[in-house]
Amino acid sequence: MIDFHVHVLPGIDDGSRDIGMTMGMLEMEASQGVSHVYATPHFYAHRRSVQQFLERRERALDSVLEILSKRPELPGITAGAEVYYFRGMGKAEQLPELCIQGTDILLLEMPFDQWHEDAYRDLTEIIRRRDLHIVLAHVERYEALQKNREVWDMVMDLPLTIQMNAGSFITSLTSGLHARHTARFCLNMLQEHDNCIIGTDAHNLTDRAPNLAEARKLIEKKLGQSRLAQLDRYTEELLGN
Ligand SMILES: [Fe+2]
Repeated sequence: MIDFHVHVLPGIDDGSRDIGMTMGMLEMEASQGVSHVYATPHFYAHRRSVQQFLERRERALDSVLEILSKRPELPGITAGAEVYYFRGMGKAEQLPELCIQGTDILLLEMPFDQWHEDAYRDLTEIIRRRDLHIVLAHVERYEALQKNREVWDMVMDLPLTIQMNAGSFITSLTSGLHARHTARFCLNMLQEHDNCIIGTDAHNLTDRAPNLAEARKLIEKKLGQSRLAQLDRYTEELLGN
């Protein structure tokens, strides 16, 4: 099992605070059967240069790898980034450096408002001219913001990957209408699209803790074992594991 989206590197963004929390998160992942995680700290082009980001990420990753070398029971870890959209990014020279290490996969966080055609143009440029593969981070978080569906529909038709957060599938008796709508939306997306991947987007050990196992159980219950198996096959093919 793979967690494709997690803020597990210590002290680099609003995710894990320190190495203790990182180890706690990795222990939670392992206890749920996760064998590999993709550490995807936030990258905001307006806050830091790519170089600064990569140096900070490397330091954080090294501190984790040092401990992991003595803890083989914990998941393996690959570094990546969750890159926040910025206008004109299709032409940004250093984009490949922000891909998941060793791949041409870019985890892209889209704007949390109405999408416009310039964003669509950047996405097509990244895919067609730059030849990178986009994974759209947590698509369920943008859907309700697209009052005009035109650009949303065009983006969903692009050859990219749709990532959803594990927690968005999970509801309880006390969940409100919004959470129920989101869970239904996520299940519908899985039914309608083969090109989906799940990540936890976990940030800590409490309110945004690793929760892949619970989401997978739910997906299996609602959509059947074969849909879950297809999800795993797609994930493995995408990441070349
Ligand atoms: Fe995230």
